[in-house]
Amino acid sequence: MELFHLLVVVCLSLPSCLADGDDEFANYTITKRILPKHIAVGVATAAYQIEGAWNLDGKGEQVWDTFIHDNPSRVSDHTNGDVASDSYHFYKQDVAAMKEVGVNYYRFSIAWSRILPDGTLKKINQAGIDYYVNLFEELESKGIQAMVTLHHWDIPTALEKQGGWQNPKVVDWFVDYARLCYEKFGKYVQSWVTINEPKQICHAGYGLGVFAPGVVSPGVGEYLCARHVLLAHAKAWHVFDKEFRSKLKSRNTIVIDSDWYEPATHSKADAIAAEIKRQFVYGMYAHPIVYGNWPKIMIDNIAKYSKAQGFKQSRLPAFSQEEIELIKGTYDFLAVNHYTTYMVSALEDPNHVGGVSWDEDSGVNSYQKSTWKTAAIDWFKIVPWGFGKLLRWLKHTYGDKEIVITENGVSDTTGTLRDQHRIDYLQSYMSHMVDAIYDGVNVTSYTVWSIIDNFEWNQGFNAKLGMYYINMSDPEKRRIAKDSSKYLAKVIKTRCLIESGCE
Ligand code: BGC
Repeated sequence: MELFHLLVVVCLSLPSCLADGDDEFANYTITKRILPKHIAVGVATAAYQIEGAWNLDGKGEQVWDTFIHDNPSRVSDHTNGDVASDSYHFYKQDVAAMKEVGVNYYRFSIAWSRILPDGTLKKINQAGIDYYVNLFEELESKGIQAMVTLHHWDIPTALEKQGGWQNPKVVDWFVDYARLCYEKFGKYVQSWVTINEPKQICHAGYGLGVFAPGVVSPGVGEYLCARHVLLAHAKAWHVFDKEFRSKLKSRNTIVIDSDWYEPATHSKADAIAAEIKRQFVYGMYAHPIVYGNWPKIMIDNIAKYSKAQGFKQSRLPAFSQEEIELIKGTYDFLAVNHYTTYMVSALEDPNHVGGVSWDEDSGVNSYQKSTWKTAAIDWFKIVPWGFGKLLRWLKHTYGDKEIVITENGVSDTTGTLRDQHRIDYLQSYMSHMVDAIYDGVNVTSYTVWSIIDNFEWNQGFNAKLGMYYINMSDPEKRRIAKDSSKYLAKVIKTRCLIESGCE
């Protein structure tokens, strides 16, 4: 069947493909009230956003250190993560907060340059290893499991100087680093994530250049980065699978972020456009790990546009058959970070050839409704129903796979302790997730971003997503419970998502 017809058939047979962006759906809606007992609940952070100690005890520099030190105006409040929430010194407070909430697991990342200062095995920094061992032991003593991300956007600067994620050598650099982590920390870890959100690393970091390392190479460098990220992930997964799986009894995957993309109207053209956008976002990384290659629509679109733009070959680098076999199947479960939703419409002129970029390569329009509630960051529209639709789509597209929600949460600017808006967000998003579970989607875990206020990349400390407030000027960085932490604690205990009425 020709691709477009296939997409139409798939799309029209799925309730989640139909336009549903009416304003009445944009409120915090509660559809299901009870969180099933089998859903494990965790919280997440990332090294650069919480650790601080950017140059202490032998840590090497990584791209976010360099990116912001070189140009502080890249961050809206001109702050940086040099100290951040200072979890390097106060990690016990983080674990105490998690214990208070009663979470089952903690998802955090290891800073590559804290244990390998120049990114390679030339020098292993024992102080860095000790920091993580202490954290693992603290978690273990409180009965909290560990989900570890090996790479959350902080490639060592020494490697970036050699091209970073654009240099094919990064695959082996990453594999060496991953193997070291499996060896040193394996006995403490229940789940491994090789890489967090490749879309942000490659599109924001090597396409738009708004994230570190700030390389502006839309539609070219970002695809090279994506290719290397997938190969690095796949090789690191195979090392785990062959050398460590049987003795460590843990699991391993990659975290892919995806918004939900809703057709703007009930027209076939918009249904197809929305499906294309989903393939360009989640599919760009999930299709290779599940089926072994880029989604066909990406291969076709980028080849077509590249030719029309005068390139001698497609800007999307091809995988060899051997690479396809290497990448295929390198996941133990699907992991997804989700925050918001977009509407998608087809271009008026289907033959239009746009500029050279990932965005234009999808050949569709996307936008958000101004009537949707907005959190502290402008793209951050609160649309709970989009979450349920994304989950149903994942099952429909990739089969009946286990799905772990590795991030979900909401920002504000004040850090208020009376964060009812965060309770509303978590409640309605979880409720739509449970609705999808009732429809047969196999979600097993739900992770809130984040346990503590931390350094929110380009927003610095302007956007706060924690369930514990930190006054960043307080030298002791006390973690102070917000109402949302008490709400989540109650949900974990009672499984009831609402104030009362679950009985
Ligand atoms: C990232 C986090 C970030 C969160 C909120 C996710 O894309 O993994 O590092 O803080 O979004 O913006």
